[in-house]
Amino acid sequence: MEALLLLLLLLSFDSLTLSRDTLTPNQPLLHNQTLLSPNQIFELGFFTPTNSNNTSWYLGIWFHKIPTRTLIWVANRDTPLDNSSSGLLTVNTNGDLSLFNQTHHAVWSSNGGSVSGRAHNPIVRLLDSGNLVVVESESDAPNGFIWQSYDYPSDTLLDGMKMGWDLKTGLNRKLTSWKSLSDPSMGDFVYELDRRGLPEMVMRNGSAKAFRTGPWNGVQFSGTPEVKNNSIFKPVFVSNDEELYFLSVSNDESVISRLYLNPLGEIRRLTWNERVSDWIVTINVQKDICNRYGLCGVYGICNVDEPVLCKCLHGFVPNSPDDWIRVDWSGGCRRRTGLDCHKGGDVFQRLSFVKVPDSTFSWVNESMSLGECQAKCLKNCSCTAYANFNISGSGSGCVLWFDGLIDLREFSAGGGQDLYVRLAAAELVGVQDPGSKKKKRPVAVIASVTVIIGTLLIGAILWHLIERTKSRQRGEEHLNREEDSATEAQGELELPLFEFVTVETATNKFSHGNIIGEGGFGPVYKGELPNGQEIAVKRLSKNSRQGLNEFKNEVIFISKLQHRNLVRLLGCCIQREEMMLIYEFMPNKSLDSFIFDQTRSNLLSWKKRFDIINGIALGLLYLHRDSRLRIIHRDLKAANVLLDMEMNPKISDFGLAKIFGGDETEANTRRVVGTYGYMSPEYAADGLFSMKSDVYSFGVMILEIVNGKRNKGFYHPGNDFNLLGHAWNLWNEDRALELVDEVVVMEDKLSRFEVLRCIHVGLLCVQQRPDDRPTMPSVVMMLGSDSTNLPQPRQPGFYYERSLWTKVHRQARSFLRK
Ligand SMILES: *[C@@H]1O[C@H](CO)[C@@H](O)[C@H](O)[C@H]1NC(C)=O
Ligand SMILES: *[C@@H]1O[C@H](CO)[C@@H](O)[C@H](O)[C@H]1NC(C)=O
Ligand SMILES: *[C@@H]1O[C@H](CO)[C@@H](O)[C@H](O)[C@H]1NC(C)=O
Ligand SMILES: *[C@@H]1O[C@H](CO)[C@@H](O)[C@H](O)[C@H]1NC(C)=O
Ligand SMILES: *[C@@H]1O[C@H](CO)[C@@H](O)[C@H](O)[C@H]1NC(C)=O
Ligand SMILES: *[C@@H]1O[C@H](CO)[C@@H](O)[C@H](O)[C@H]1NC(C)=O
Ligand SMILES: *[C@@H]1O[C@H](CO)[C@@H](O)[C@H](O)[C@H]1NC(C)=O
Ligand SMILES: *[C@@H]1O[C@H](CO)[C@@H](O)[C@H](O)[C@H]1NC(C)=O
Ligand SMILES: *[C@@H]1O[C@H](CO)[C@@H](O)[C@H](O)[C@H]1NC(C)=O
Ligand SMILES: *[C@@H]1O[C@H](CO)[C@@H](O)[C@H](O)[C@H]1NC(C)=O
Repeated sequence: MEALLLLLLLLSFDSLTLSRDTLTPNQPLLHNQTLLSPNQIFELGFFTPTNSNNTSWYLGIWFHKIPTRTLIWVANRDTPLDNSSSGLLTVNTNGDLSLFNQTHHAVWSSNGGSVSGRAHNPIVRLLDSGNLVVVESESDAPNGFIWQSYDYPSDTLLDGMKMGWDLKTGLNRKLTSWKSLSDPSMGDFVYELDRRGLPEMVMRNGSAKAFRTGPWNGVQFSGTPEVKNNSIFKPVFVSNDEELYFLSVSNDESVISRLYLNPLGEIRRLTWNERVSDWIVTINVQKDICNRYGLCGVYGICNVDEPVLCKCLHGFVPNSPDDWIRVDWSGGCRRRTGLDCHKGGDVFQRLSFVKVPDSTFSWVNESMSLGECQAKCLKNCSCTAYANFNISGSGSGCVLWFDGLIDLREFSAGGGQDLYVRLAAAELVGVQDPGSKKKKRPVAVIASVTVIIGTLLIGAILWHLIERTKSRQRGEEHLNREEDSATEAQGELELPLFEFVTVETATNKFSHGNIIGEGGFGPVYKGELPNGQEIAVKRLSKNSRQGLNEFKNEVIFISKLQHRNLVRLLGCCIQREEMMLIYEFMPNKSLDSFIFDQTRSNLLSWKKRFDIINGIALGLLYLHRDSRLRIIHRDLKAANVLLDMEMNPKISDFGLAKIFGGDETEANTRRVVGTYGYMSPEYAADGLFSMKSDVYSFGVMILEIVNGKRNKGFYHPGNDFNLLGHAWNLWNEDRALELVDEVVVMEDKLSRFEVLRCIHVGLLCVQQRPDDRPTMPSVVMMLGSDSTNLPQPRQPGFYYERSLWTKVHRQARSFLRK
């Protein structure tokens, strides 16, 4: 009776699936049955991946209670069953699991893993940890597993699962990505513990290294300071004679969390959020470009906080002199002065906060002191660097590198460790002690996991909402690369959600008095959170359709970007048909409210203006090149540059931004949107935009900052030129300094060199032909260098205010919607 009741209950819930808790030699698991863990946390059964044809069936383990089926393990990854009504999982008396197809062939089996002949009465159980185990019925001891799925991970590592080596059996537990979200077969990406040299986690793309965490230095992985003890988990690294593995230990059993290698080769820690009913990203260690393996080549070092990512280590020079401007610097560096090993003329330079180079071929001793280590390195002429093996406490152990050093990166603070690089003594003259370097900048804040879980929500819901609304609209835009990868990655957005009431209270119920501007798609309000933090709230007007696209755009772009010259998005709010973006508040409003205002422009000294120009250049450089996406802003203008308390510029308003794929450099759009006066000729007239159109807008801005007047509507008695034409004329007549704002001209210690340099760069940026304009890396270099060797600018695009402009205006209007 009870059994019947249970059966009815199960039938009504879980159409025709019968759940059990054990599997024995006499009772195989049928296609229409599943195995449940004792507390119903995990479930083992047959499944077909979402979006697939229902013709490929797999045996897998998923979270029982999570509505979007999330697989943590798949048995027959490369050998699917083509008919669901035939699958059969059995365990034989030896304890071997086998999966049979319709014609009773084993398409998958566990043997090789189990110790044959050990079992007599094997029982198969699914534990609450997600581990599928075969145990001998009498000795149910936790360590007595005859076989366990934890030893053969798929693409997911749960807390408690080991990743790494059993040195006695040679078992290597590693993650392998799925081919795609609908195809569990072995993908190209493998994440594993490489035990050669100094052990570390390595991501491979096929046979090539794509990313390494840096070795465990006793405290953390040298290259991923984000992975450290927190409220959710604690990373543990175990190394002894028998085992070498990494493991995370849960710090909070109520949080469901997993490390997941997605089909794009991105390793992330995800946490289940009940309220949005989706997985949110809590740690993404590969988020910046310096994580690309060997980006800066041999003896090169990467730093995301510097305008030029790659530089050579001190004492080394680029192999190819043009390299400094390229992102991919695989050319690397070579010594400026040869070593003098045999005469004992070598010294070491200390580098601090670095991710140590690839240590596959390093030599390690775990007990030597740093002094012994140095002596050991000096004695061997092919030794190029050394470091401590373990940095906790006062440091211990010794690692030696031989030959080229590759995949180094520098952290601004808080990551990495000291590395001592061998140099010829002659190179050390004039080197300051690297430990006393003062120009360190704070690292990007890694959002506290606790905060995200506890109080904030992530935008997956937003994603679905927007997608739903969007699909209702006619004329779907072609999905660009980022959107694809966002969907691929299951809509994981790294963006906190605010409660509607919080925002409503903060903005005084969206009172008119709090409106501080009009954004691309609706009003912008000032607000104050209960903790006193000031915010700016962009609210999407309810009937703005075009706004919806821009809103979505902005969410996607900005949530992934972090740079000190980009305005920071704190979160968003989606509730009661409301969609809002919440930004940090910029007390000094926008740049145009200063430079074009007679009184306020007095507050901008030349030094400030020069800093602002450089800051905007760095922000734009980041968008064009350094962020993992390559982004074109499309609406750069003084009004979209906000100023913080210290008058640091921050680029804002990404509503029109576009992401560019790898080799794509130019695109065409039917919808020319942007602001006259800042639009490049090819964009305004033909709808062609590229990074060079942003460079054009930036050039206009430089000239406006120098001159204090708007390009659009510029008037100079006696001619029809706009600001660009006027500047170009003055430049050609060697009178460029006359362009400078009167307010600035009065300054005592005005650097004529800097002023002329800015005008020069500005004119280069606004040249008619996009190919003539410099790229942003060049612009940054030009602004920062004292070299006088810049090309002469050619004629700017749009240099007449009236006649030509009105013609183009008419032409361009046909491209515009309104
Ligand atoms: C499960 O499948 C088996 C064999 O295909 C069949 O005999 C049995 O009736 C099915 N049970 C349910 C509940 O559908
Ligand atoms: C769906 O089936 C077609 C043809 O049967 C096949 O080409 C395609 O790869 C299948 N797609 C998936 C996701 O299995
Ligand atoms: C796959 O099967 C499920 C249920 O078995 C069904 O809901 C779904 O529509 C099917 N999908 C396809 C693409 O046939
Ligand atoms: C799957 O197997 C069942 C039972 O063996 C059979 O009746 C059915 O035709 C098969 N379906 C396919 C698509 O092969
Ligand atoms: C079952 O598996 C065997 C071996 O992999 C294969 O040769 C056979 O075609 C499969 N049968 C079916 C019906 O898929
Ligand atoms: C992986 O390697 C392939 C082929 O070498 C390359 O095309 C692809 O861009 C790589 N993917 C990543 C994410 O590195
Ligand atoms: C590193 O050093 C600390 C203290 O000096 C010690 O407790 C720890 O076990 C060491 N770690 C390793 C991996 O040797
Ligand atoms: C790790 O963090 C948790 C919570 O933040 C804390 O309770 C625990 O003491 C920490 N453990 C260590 C070893 O620092
Ligand atoms: C490591 O160095 C210590 C101290 O110099 C020495 O006693 C020990 O034998 C070395 N171990 C190895 C494996 O070389
Ligand atoms: C220097 O170290 C390398 C790598 O361990 C080794 O092959 C070589 O024999 C050493 N040379 C000397 C002189 O010790």
